[in-house]
Order: sequence, then C-alpha cells, then structure tokens
Amino acid sequence: MYFVFVLLYSHNCLSSWRNTNCCQWQGIRCDNVTGAVVAVDLHNPSHVEFWNISGELRPSLMKLKSLSHLDLSFNTFSGIPIPKFLGSLMHLQYLNLSKAGFAGLIPPHLGNLSHLQSLGLADYSLHVKNLEWVAGLVSLKHFRMDGVDLPSVATTDWVSALNQLPSLMKLHLSSCQLFGQIPSPPSLN
Ligand SMILES: *[C@@H]1O[C@H](CO)[C@@H](O)[C@H](O)[C@H]1NC(C)=O
Ligand SMILES: *[C@@H]1O[C@H](CO)[C@@H](O)[C@H](O)[C@H]1NC(C)=O
Ligand SMILES: *[C@@H]1O[C@H](CO)[C@@H](O)[C@H](O)[C@H]1NC(C)=O
Ligand SMILES: *[C@@H]1O[C@H](CO)[C@@H](O)[C@H](O)[C@H]1NC(C)=O
Repeated sequence: MYFVFVLLYSHNCLSSWRNTNCCQWQGIRCDNVTGAVVAVDLHNPSHVEFWNISGELRPSLMKLKSLSHLDLSFNTFSGIPIPKFLGSLMHLQYLNLSKAGFAGLIPPHLGNLSHLQSLGLADYSLHVKNLEWVAGLVSLKHFRMDGVDLPSVATTDWVSALNQLPSLMKLHLSSCQLFGQIPSPPSLN
C-alpha cells in the first residue's frame, strides 16, 4: 500500500501504517473473504482540527481494483487538482473529497463512475466548466457541491443535467453563487 499514497501528516493518526498487514491500518478496510482493500477512509472526524493529511495521490491507487469507498474529506491537500484517474475507479460507490484541500477544475472524468451513490465535492476552491459529465452518474443518490463555483454554467444547463439523474435524492448546492440565476417565482397579483 505504500505505493498508493505519499502522505505527509503531523498527527499520529497514521501510526498504525507501519504494520505489515495493511488491512489493519487505520482507515483501511478489506474484504473478509478476498482480502482486497475495499475502503480507504481518511476523513478527519473532528472538523475542528485538521488531521493535516496532504501529499499526493498516485495513479497506483488504481491497483486497488475493489475499492468502493474513498473518503479524504476535511484534509489539507495543498491546492493540488483532483486527479483524473479517480474516474477510473469503476467500483467506487462513495467518493468524498469535500474540503480536502483540492483546487481547480473538477475533472469530467468523474462522470465515468456509474456505480457512485454518494459524491462530495464541497469546496470553495473547486470549479466546473459545465455539468454535462454529471449525466454519467446514473446511480447517484447524494450529491454535495456546496461552494463550487457554478455561475459560469448556464442555469438551464445545470438544472437539466441534474434533472437527468434517475436516483438522486439529496442535493446540496449552497454558496454556489446561483442567487441571481434562480427564476423568479410567479407574481401573486
Ligand atoms: C468482517 O470482519 C469484521 C471484523 O472482524 C466483522 O465485523 C464483519 O462482520 C465481517 N463481515 C462479514 C461479512 O463477515
Ligand atoms: C494542522 O495544522 C494547523 C495549521 O498549521 C495547526 O494549527 C493544527 O494544530 C494542525 N493539526 C494537527 C492535528 O496537527
Ligand atoms: C472518462 O471520461 C472522460 C471525460 O469525460 C473521457 O474522455 C474518457 O474517455 C472516459 N474514460 C473511460 C474509461 O470511459
Ligand atoms: C462528506 O464528508 C463530509 C465531512 O466529512 C460530510 O459532512 C458529508 O456529508 C459527506 N458526504 C458528502 C456526499 O459530501
């Protein structure tokens, strides 16, 4: 597993990562039967103090073929872009990169994750060019994009893109600067 992450951290939360069996590392969950890594959960549980996990995500993460849960929320990756190869983790059902310190364009490659049920991308440092890629997220139930810069996307585009998602139940779009774009309600006169 060392090949997967290069992480710098200032907290002993990852001290268990010296053990030779990575299934016993904190935040890692393996399938009981196959032994394959199915979850990497390094989100910061406190929300108050950051764990300060940073570093880089390497493409070798794709070797975790059974990965279905990846949570890096509330960390301090320092302004690096969300890697495009995350869109190749075809078994992902849960991906949470909210407030993890990623910045820049959300790669449309994430739209290839057709098994994804929950997607967290809440971060003021992220933006999108359009939301066409969202159409591929056919299993998505919970979508959070609070703070993501959406004004550049035409109202009709994002509404129709999200409207196509057959399984969507919860949508969070606070602080997306959509204020002026919401169509005015019909007049009461
Ligand atoms: C897998 O192992 C964990 C920890 O020992 C246990 O809590 C869980 O119930 C097991 N799951 C299955 C499907 O056997
Ligand atoms: C994370 O970094 C911040 C700012 O440098 C620091 O205030 C905080 O104590 C660090 N958190 C931990 C858990 O080390
Ligand atoms: C994933 O999506 C991107 C951009 O939407 C596309 O260019 C690429 O071919 C797709 N890859 C796969 C394996 O489907
Ligand atoms: C992602 O993680 C954050 C904090 O760890 C949590 O509040 C949020 O509900 C999670 N899910 C999504 C879809 O953002």
